[in-house]
Order: sequence, then structure tokens, then C-alpha cells
Amino acid sequence: MSLGPDQFTRPEIFDFHGVSMTHYFTDNWENVQNFQARPDDILIATYPKAGTTWVSYILDQLYFGQMERQTSVPIFDRVPFLEIILPSVISGKDLVDNLPTSPRLIKTHYPVQFVPKSFWEQNCRIVYVARNAKDNMVSYFHFERMNMVQPEPGDWSSYIPRFMEGNMVFGPWYDHVNGWWKKKQTYPKLHYMFYEDLVEDTGREIDKLCCFLGLSRSDEEKRRVTDGSHFDNMKKDGMANYSISPVMDFKISPFMRKGKVGDWKNHFSVAQSQLFDEDYKKQMTDVTLQFRSEL
Ligand code: A3P
Repeated sequence: MSLGPDQFTRPEIFDFHGVSMTHYFTDNWENVQNFQARPDDILIATYPKAGTTWVSYILDQLYFGQMERQTSVPIFDRVPFLEIILPSVISGKDLVDNLPTSPRLIKTHYPVQFVPKSFWEQNCRIVYVARNAKDNMVSYFHFERMNMVQPEPGDWSSYIPRFMEGNMVFGPWYDHVNGWWKKKQTYPKLHYMFYEDLVEDTGREIDKLCCFLGLSRSDEEKRRVTDGSHFDNMKKDGMANYSISPVMDFKISPFMRKGKVGDWKNHFSVAQSQLFDEDYKKQMTDVTLQFRSEL
């Protein structure tokens, strides 16, 4: 019998070292903390729903081009999610340990303080992707509706205060984006990028990524990656759109949902938006970190 969304149980959120988590991301804690990174490993770190899959896809294409893997191995196996552990499914950590590629591309949603120390010791390159809070929240809401290993999201009006209070899996968005932003000041091998910039000019952001990674790719190759990673193409790509994920129910919402900046306007009322913005100013005091919630 193949695994499907019915076979998974929605988890409870609990406090784990000061961060809201679920057991699917903590059960393998010891093994993950002891993970042995290699100097050429590349860590893709994000708050959930900030564009992880998009950037994973871009990096995978930049490194491994048109290999057979791209059309036969799902993105979540090509770029494993380090801390995930689900019943009857190989853990993210074991997937990474078995990766045949070099470099290894590794995904994490950990807040910066949870990253296994080996990544720092090995001085690995890290790409962090951040997305404006409102769109990030909308995307997370729809994701929790359709993903059976996420907590039940409830209705939209109760979701906003929950997000503001930070009672989300992987903790508050505010702490996550700020924690990684601060890390960038002391750790030079961290490239901090924004979902909105990627939407605005994917080619420009791919140039910056190549520069950071020390990759020289022809204009034609970069154009192929830019076009190939367009939302419409990824949505059609059965190896990138999560259609074969056992935990997601696409009847509720697709994984590749809209891919837009500003979809929050279709969800927030004027009053909800005002309340959110007032609280945002209190939580986001570092003026050097600025987000765009429209283009
Ligand atoms: P929406 O729900 O707003 O559509 P993650 O990969 O971190 O889970 O993020 C998922 C979000 O990124 C979803 O946002 C998804 O549609 C969007 N996304 C994925 N690939 C994209 C692409 N090629 N272009 C634009 N957005 C993309």
C-alpha cells in the first residue's frame, strides 16, 4: 500500500529550546546535531514558504544542469530537508548522507541557532532566502491546510494573531529573518536573498548566486536556468511541484500555489493589515533589514 495524506497525523506544537516545533522536526535532533558537513556542502536555509523550493531548484540546475536526475528524482530527494523525520520515510539526514552529488545541496528551516555546528566549522556556503511577512504568512496558511504533517491552521482570522505571536512551526518569522540577518554580519559565507528580488528579476539574482558560489556559467546556461525555474514551468514539472509527496492533499491547495508578491491583499482586510503593520513596527526594529510587500 502506498503512503497517502490519510496515513499521517497532524502534530501538536510544543516549545523546543525556546522555539515552537513539532516532533517531525525534533525526533531526529541528536543525529542532526551530530551531522558531519563537508566543506563544499551548500545549505539552503529559509523560513517555511519563503521560496525554498525555487532556490533549491535553481541551485540544482546551476550545478547539475540537464542530468538524468532532474527528470527522475523529486526535488525533495535531490535537495534533502535535513531535519525532517516522518514515519515509514527515510529521514532527511539519511538522505543527505546518501546523496551521490558533489556538492551536496541541503535544505533546512532551522532558526540560525539550531544549525548543526559542523556547518560553521567547515565554513560551508549558506544561501538564506527571506520573504515579506504577509505573503509568507498567506503561503504558510494554505500550506498548513493541505499538508497533513503540519498543525491544523484553523481559520484565517485566528491565523494572523498566531503568526504575530510566533506560535508557528520553526518559531516566529520575525526571529528567523532577524537571526539570520545578524549572522550575516559575522559570517561572510552567507548570501541573504529576498523572494521579492527573485520575482522582480530572476536573471539578476542568478548572477548574484553564481558570483557568491564562484560559478562561471555561460549566458545561455543562465538563461536556461532562469526560464526553466519560472513558476509556470516548475508547476508543470512533476519532479518539482510536490505532486508525488505523500503528505500533501492537492485537492485542498496545490504546493505551487500562486508564486506572486502581494497576494496578501487578497487575504487581509484593511483593519487586519493595519493591526499587523503596527505590531510589525514593534517587532522589526533593525532598520537595516527591509522587506518589500509589493513590487
Ligand atoms: P505561494 O504559496 O505564495 O504561491 P517553499 O518552497 O519555501 O515552501 O515556498 C513555497 C512558495 O514559493 C509558494 O508560494 C510557491 O508557489 C512559491 N514558489 C515556488 N516556486 C516558485 C517559482 N518558480 N516562482 C515563484 N514562486 C515560486
